Amino acid sequence: MRIVLVGPPGAGKGTQAAYLAKNLAIPHVSTGDLFRANISQGTPLGVKAKSYMDAGNLVPDEVTIGMAEDRISQPDAEGGFLLDGFPRNLKQAEALDGYLKDKGITLDAVLDLEVPEDEVVKRIAGRRICRSDSSHVFHVEYKKPAREGVCDVCGGELYQRDDDREDTVRKRLEVYHTETEPIIDYYKAQDLVVTIPALGEVEEVTRRAMAALGRDE
Ligand code: AP5
Repeated sequence: MRIVLVGPPGAGKGTQAAYLAKNLAIPHVSTGDLFRANISQGTPLGVKAKSYMDAGNLVPDEVTIGMAEDRISQPDAEGGFLLDGFPRNLKQAEALDGYLKDKGITLDAVLDLEVPEDEVVKRIAGRRICRSDSSHVFHVEYKKPAREGVCDVCGGELYQRDDDREDTVRKRLEVYHTETEPIIDYYKAQDLVVTIPALGEVEEVTRRAMAALGRDE
């Protein structure tokens, strides 16, 4: 399956993507994680991306589109992929459509995770991620690690993302409403959007998403 996950910052896209990708046996492709990996390795791409991310802005399309297409053209994504955080504006959505058309393939669904804004703010404020692998995500209240400050998966140090500061979060939410929300209508016109209520236990949200995809867990 080829799936796009969309939703505001902190909606739980990364959390759900990890479970859905495992259940569906497809790679989880997160442009945010790809940028964070480049930042921690100190690559030129990471240096460029960091200034945009820390300000809560989108990294420019000319960098992002190539990086995302390069990732989904890898052999492990031949049978499908779960895109988390891409596309994030209309230009990226059109570029993805062009890429898929060239390959003669299509998306199966766009899952829109719906969460009230006050909950999103709580989720972001308490989020802690692993310095060794930013796809290992915890929460000080909702998903506590067994040992405070230590990743349950790999033992890495848990920290708060630089772009999870309150002023940056406000900017990211604004960018989400102006730049990203329009892609929901773009995909509704292609009859691809399924809205998933994303309040509640993580496992329950996963069940809703799997049911929406017509798959039992
Ligand atoms: P990115 O990393 O994609 O961030 P985001 O979209 O803002 O989303 P988040 O990672 O903040 O949240 P999430 O929805 O994944 O929530 P999570 O599962 O962690 O992008 C970061 C930046 O990179 C962007 O601002 C931009 O600068 C750049 N970028 C990335 N892609 C780009 C693109 N395509 N174009 C241009 N720039 C791009 O959950 C949040 C917390 O809630 C966690 O602590 C989790 O444990 C908890 N939680 C999750 N689900 C539940 C639940 N059901 N109940 C209780 N707690 C929950």
